[in-house]
Amino acid sequence: MSAVGSPGEALDWTDRLLEVDVGPVAHGGHCVARHEGRVVFVRHALPGERVRVVVTEDNGGSFCRADAVGVLEASPDRVEPACAWAGPGGCGGCDWQHATPAAQRRLKAAVVAEQLARLAGIEREVTVEELPGGPLDWRTRMRMAVTDDGRPGLRVHRSHEVLPVGDCPIAAPGALLPVLERAWTPTAEVEVVRDAEGEVHAAELFEGARHPEIGSDTAHERAAGRTWALPPAAFWQVHPHAADAVVDAVVEGVGDLAPGACAWDLYGGAGLIAAPLAERVGPEGRVVLVESDPDATAAAGACLADLPAVQVVRSRVEKVLGDGGKRSSTRGGSSLPGPPDVIVADPPRKGLGRGLAGQLAEQGAARIVLVACDPAALARDVAALAEHGYRLDALRAFDAFPMTHHVECVATLLAA
Ligand SMILES: C[S@@+](CC[C@H](N)C(=O)[O-])C[C@H]1O[C@@H](n2cnc3c(N)ncnc32)[C@H](O)[C@@H]1O
Repeated sequence: MSAVGSPGEALDWTDRLLEVDVGPVAHGGHCVARHEGRVVFVRHALPGERVRVVVTEDNGGSFCRADAVGVLEASPDRVEPACAWAGPGGCGGCDWQHATPAAQRRLKAAVVAEQLARLAGIEREVTVEELPGGPLDWRTRMRMAVTDDGRPGLRVHRSHEVLPVGDCPIAAPGALLPVLERAWTPTAEVEVVRDAEGEVHAAELFEGARHPEIGSDTAHERAAGRTWALPPAAFWQVHPHAADAVVDAVVEGVGDLAPGACAWDLYGGAGLIAAPLAERVGPEGRVVLVESDPDATAAAGACLADLPAVQVVRSRVEKVLGDGGKRSSTRGGSSLPGPPDVIVADPPRKGLGRGLAGQLAEQGAARIVLVACDPAALARDVAALAEHGYRLDALRAFDAFPMTHHVECVATLLAA
């Protein structure tokens, strides 16, 4: 099966069958094995197993990617996947269908701990907390792909191939039914939302345009003791219990906010986090929500209209913190009201980055609470803030994406 190279030329291992002992979990939904001195990232295996793998990609350098196609010695954590489309060559959406839910949480905890150790130099025992509802039937938002002949499906891992799945066991009940029973524009994508009232909203994304096709233009969500009405495309947590879990952890992280205090809620979305912050600082306090998506800011303005402390700023965070913002009297230089007593930042997957982390640190807040869905980005941001004197205090992690390798973290950093 393997390609044979000429003398001196490195062999391409793609398609080669190997037997390997599986080592620790690595970030990204795979485990690390070694073969003939090279690192092999193996999907669909578990630490401690001996498996037969097929190499799916050879990067030509130090590592390969592979799929476990036979289990020679199984881990006690191994179970039969609940999904017919999971496994080697199957749907790329789930990484850990073959592990018990408890083992999945241990694997994610190990990844968070390893990223913090490697990228931030912090040794810490991490626990990933379970959310209610079990490992199936939770996903309220998903992006589907469409086959060349118009059938909705899900992509194979690291491939453009679309599997026209007949179901998705992690999707919220009923979410996919109206989507699967009709045809879509070939090669488009379909954005599916099932809101807290059970209404399904689906829009087709094609050639840069978004066409709502199913459901109304308002999704209703409930969290933090409030209700939200927001456009389906605006950000909302994917797991139905994640919003409350994140809010609780953030409220814990910001600590005792005195009435009249000032809090910044950066990347604030529709105001999920701003709402409980506003209740804490009271009407004489200030919660400045910064968000770039006009749909989300409109929803925040409308849904939080009863909270006079909330000020919604539609802008990119970089702009109000960086050179693009009008400099004002705040300590760190920004166009936002301040100085903030506390900053909450919930950036997209790539995290804050070093420059922005430095600009946040300059604001002089006593606490910075980071919400992060990528442990590597979190660890890099924690390391960047540490350069400015912020020390990691509490860290909560939630299994907000069961069966996948994703994990949601809330980290509290205290100024020196
Ligand atoms: C992970 S979501 C968090 C939303 C909100 N905190 C919540 O919990 O519902 C990140 C949000 O940041 C917004 N966003 C992305 N890039 C941004 C930027 N450069 N400046 C401001 N907001 C941004 C997105 O539109 C999205 O609403």
